[in-house]
Amino acid sequence: MTGGTALTGRVRVTGAKNSALKLMAAALLAPGRTTIDEVPDILDVAIMSEVLRRLGCDVDYRRTGDGGGGGRVTIDVPEAPSTETDYDLVRRMRASISVLGPLVARCGSAKVALPGGDAIGSRGLDMHISGLERLGATIVSEHGFLVATAPRLVGTSIWLDFPSVGATENLVMAAVLASGTTVIDNAAREPEIVDLCSMLRAMGALIDGAGTSTITVEGVGSLSPVTYTTVPDRIVAGTWAIGAVMTRGDVLVERAVAEHMAVALDKLTDAGATVEAQPGGVRVAMTERPRCVDIVTLPFPGFPTDLQPMAVALAAVSTGTALITENVFEGRFMFVNELVRLGADVRIDGHHAVVRGREKLSSAPVVATDIRAGAGLVLAGLVSDGVTEVQEVHHVDRGYPDFVEQLRGLGATIERTERPG
Ligand code: UD1
Repeated sequence: MTGGTALTGRVRVTGAKNSALKLMAAALLAPGRTTIDEVPDILDVAIMSEVLRRLGCDVDYRRTGDGGGGGRVTIDVPEAPSTETDYDLVRRMRASISVLGPLVARCGSAKVALPGGDAIGSRGLDMHISGLERLGATIVSEHGFLVATAPRLVGTSIWLDFPSVGATENLVMAAVLASGTTVIDNAAREPEIVDLCSMLRAMGALIDGAGTSTITVEGVGSLSPVTYTTVPDRIVAGTWAIGAVMTRGDVLVERAVAEHMAVALDKLTDAGATVEAQPGGVRVAMTERPRCVDIVTLPFPGFPTDLQPMAVALAAVSTGTALITENVFEGRFMFVNELVRLGADVRIDGHHAVVRGREKLSSAPVVATDIRAGAGLVLAGLVSDGVTEVQEVHHVDRGYPDFVEQLRGLGATIERTERPG
């Protein structure tokens, strides 16, 4: 990409990756056809589709062609799904672990490969495991697989050490078919949790407190398939918003939900941007060089860790100095080495980054290390002088549908090239 052009215009945001993948896993809880709309056309959805196919489901994905990069997925779930997931697939994507809860709840057993995913930290599974054990499952780890058995799950009280998104989701999906009442305390409150619980409720589950720290689930005997629409992706929306501010542009992010991005939008206002929540989305505009703002990542409603690389990139071209603190994933500053290659002045000390803003960055070849780092580096390339090449962009494909096309639609000079071989 060639830096120097302001992002201007409209961009449509489809459903959230981090919700759609769990909604697809939740389909396993009911035999029959579940239909999910606004599912992003990204690699991780293709991987989850394949995980479900190997479990015996028929999965079909169709793009909708409305410019947002989303589509409709239909999942036909058999009466008796297979309970063993494919090692190679699961290793490629951590979210595959979210089939564990539904499979144990519905089939009484599951064998799920230990997942892979982004290289952003140790990302343990202890809370998934101990929560399922409290519900009555027996779990052992053998030959790279977690093997769970539970002839019967029984409702219980679970206190999470940390409001883990994935553990909260897995435990809710297990509890909906357990006998009796489950109370999950210190639960995650992300909009994607609320979205999953809404779909489960539409399927017939009895869930109270989604979006608060205490979720109560009354188990039911069975659930029914539904048609459901995924919540808009607040991380993709936040990426466009930060891009607009960094490039001093003016972007209407269609379908963005301001309440899901309140802290991030507040930070952009502090940086000097004009932020307007409108009925169909959020408009973000910037005329001058942004000011540095301090940022601390925290579970929702705090500033999302998934927007931290973009926040560092933004600070790198702002006036002043920003202290960025990462509290969720310890490996998340790894991409900073690449940002420094573009001339950014960033110093890391443990989980803090001190960023001294520069007028401009300077183009260089850089390497994406994970989805969000890749997106942050692309935004940095848009404010670098000269031509920046971001390699390993397949990482970005895991989270952003039509990233390059959407950026081009906003006026960026950017293209995707395949390397020979
Ligand atoms: C999800 C999102 C990811 C986002 C993260 C935090 C998906 C597919 N991914 O990841 O994009 O950055 O939420 O908002 O939805 N942890 C444990 N033990 C556990 C579970 C988690 O130690 O049993 C730790 C993790 O290592 C991490 C922290 O808790 O340091 C947060 O993890 P969690 O909220 O579970 O994130 P994910 O669900 O993996």
